[in-house]
Amino acid sequence: MPTFAAPAKINLSLRILRRREDGFHELETRMCPVELSDAVKVELADEVSLTCSVPGIPVGEENLALKALRAFEREAGIEAKVRIHLEKRIPSGAGLGGGSSDAATVLLALNEIYAADISKPKLAEIGGGFGSDVSFFIYGGVCDCAGRGEIVTPVEGRNPLDGRRVILLKPPFGISTPWAYKNWRDSTGYPDFDYAPQTVDGQKMVNDLERPVFEKYPVLGCMKMWLREQTGVDAAMMSGSGSTMFAICEKGATLSAIAENARAIFGETLWVCETRIQE
Ligand code: C5P
Repeated sequence: MPTFAAPAKINLSLRILRRREDGFHELETRMCPVELSDAVKVELADEVSLTCSVPGIPVGEENLALKALRAFEREAGIEAKVRIHLEKRIPSGAGLGGGSSDAATVLLALNEIYAADISKPKLAEIGGGFGSDVSFFIYGGVCDCAGRGEIVTPVEGRNPLDGRRVILLKPPFGISTPWAYKNWRDSTGYPDFDYAPQTVDGQKMVNDLERPVFEKYPVLGCMKMWLREQTGVDAAMMSGSGSTMFAICEKGATLSAIAENARAIFGETLWVCETRIQE
């Protein structure tokens, strides 16, 4: 079955400018893909079907992968009869964009399979219609995203963080994105944590959603602060609306030691992933 890689993302910075009339929040965020990815398998079939390696993920029309398929059909004016299988490695409710990346990958795959020749800006526009992060995944690479997140500008030139090793920590619970945004305005943040921008290789790193999320789940603030204290870690913060914390590590850092200590401190149910920023 032809397989397409759907990478995870991390937010190098996420600033919220204001709440909009439509309930969404106006953003300025810089995102970049990492090597961790889902495998999205797409092949021609007699009828549409969607399966997923992880039980409990809904595989009906509410799944973003099928929303992508329906949006493609409308744009291309064809009936897309394919079997889609999602081999999940990116956890859900993690702030890593897994569902959006799968959807963007379905759009790209169908465009290729049906030789529909829809341009990237058009695919990004279609994707932005059903998920704020889908447009980013159509482009790939480091991008600045504005509006709800769907106005994407690829960053020119080499990313100074290219190839940097990254460690991802996620507790067994996820965070609801609507909840995190809804609580942003009134949140003062849990007092003991540092929310100030960190700078690595000229990249300013800050996430405005940390305040509401750490206020309700202080353990996540503890994880961020713990990561920052580890030898070989240059910066650590939350990705998107959480619950994943990530650390940007120095080239020679021993990630396996950090991973092992993280499990010892935060428990065996912690999901730990060693990856790197895509070059
Ligand atoms: O577009 P997406 O499905 O990722 O958004 C999920 C929810 O997160 C939205 O329904 C909204 O409540 C919130 N959100 C927001 N502002 C954004 C993006 C998402 O308020 N820029």
